[in-house]
Amino acid sequence: MRRKLFEVLTVSVLITALLAGCSEKNIEETEAEAAASVASSAEEKEMTPADMRVGVFIYKLSDTYMSLFKDELIKDLVNAGFKEENITVVNSAFSHGYQMLQLKKVISSGVDILVVNPVNMSKTAEVTDLAMEAGVPLVYVNREPEASEEIRWESENLPVTYIGCDARQAGTFQGKMLIDLGFENIDKNGDGVLQYIMVKGEKNSADTYFRTRYSIEALKNAGWSVEKLAEGNGNWDKNVSEYVVTEALAENPSVEVIICNNDMMAVGALEAVNKAGLEAGKDVYIIGADAFEVALEKILEGKIVGTVFNNYVEQARLTTGTILSYMKKQNVAHFYGSDYVKVTKENAETILGIIREDEESDAQQEE
Ligand code: BGC
Repeated sequence: MRRKLFEVLTVSVLITALLAGCSEKNIEETEAEAAASVASSAEEKEMTPADMRVGVFIYKLSDTYMSLFKDELIKDLVNAGFKEENITVVNSAFSHGYQMLQLKKVISSGVDILVVNPVNMSKTAEVTDLAMEAGVPLVYVNREPEASEEIRWESENLPVTYIGCDARQAGTFQGKMLIDLGFENIDKNGDGVLQYIMVKGEKNSADTYFRTRYSIEALKNAGWSVEKLAEGNGNWDKNVSEYVVTEALAENPSVEVIICNNDMMAVGALEAVNKAGLEAGKDVYIIGADAFEVALEKILEGKIVGTVFNNYVEQARLTTGTILSYMKKQNVAHFYGSDYVKVTKENAETILGIIREDEESDAQQEE
C-alpha cells in the first residue's frame, strides 16, 4: 500500500516537472523532497497501541473460561497502551451466523485487528476470508480451526494465527493423575476394570475430542482395563453436566471415575454425586480441566481429585503480544501454544495463589 503511494507520487512529480520544463537537477531535488514527505507521512501512519481498534469476538460470554480470558485480555491490552474505548467485545451468542454478521459490522466501521474465538470451528474459512478481504490480521483463540485451514494460512502466508493449548496434553494429564491414584485404590469393586462415565464438552470441538480420547489412552497405555458405562455432552456447562451425570448415575451407581472435559462440568458432576448420596473422593473419583477457583476449592476439600490448569493469564498475554507484533509488522508464527499444568491437592493452593494474585491486581487497578 505504502509502496504504491510512493510510486504514484514519484510519477506525478515527474510529470509535473516535465510539464514545467524543469532541469534534471530540479527533478532530482523535487523527487527527493517528495520521497521525504512520503516517508514522513508513512511515519505518521505508524500505528501505536493507542490508535489500534481491536475487535474481540467470543463464541459465548456465559462460558466461564472465555469470560475470564476476555477480562484478562482487556486488562493486558490497556496495560500495553490500548484504549478501552477502541476495544469492541462482541458476544457471538453461540451462533455462527450472528458472529459473521457482527464481524462484517465491525469491519465496516473500521478495525485494525481481530481476535476471534470462533463459534463453529469447521467454518473458520469464512471468518478468515472476511478478515483477509478487509486486510485485517486475525488472531484465533481457544477454539482451534481445522488443520486444513492452518495449512492454508501457512501456504498463502496469511496474517492469521492461533493461540491456545494442545487438548491432547490435557487428556493425557487427566489420565496420568488418575494413574497416580493407584489402580487398586480406585477399582472400588475390585473387578480389575475401571468403570467410568465420560462427561464431554460440546460436540465438534477439538478440546472435547482430544481430551476425551487422550485421557482414556493414557489409562490404557498404563495397562489399565477400562469400561465406559455412560457418556454425554455436558456442553462445558455445570447444569447440563449435573443433568447428564444424574441420569448416568441412576443407571450406573457403581461407577468408579467420572472424567469431565472441563471444571464446570466436574462441579456439576459433583452436585449429581452428592444428590445421589455417594461420597466424592471415596466412592467415586471426579476429574476436570481448567483449574477454576471453584474446582480448586473442591480439590483442596478432597471432593475433586484433579484438574489441569488452562492458563488464561498466559494465553491473554500471548494474544496481546501477538497483536503488538502484527501492529509493528513483525514476523508472527501461525501457532502459539500454552502448556497445561497438572493440578492435584499438592499444588492446588499454588495455582489458587496465581489466580487470586491476578484478581487482586485487577482490583487494585480498579481502585
Ligand atoms: C475450556 C472450557 C471452555 C471451552 C470453550 C476449553 O478450553 O476448557 O472450559 O468452555 O474451552 O471453548
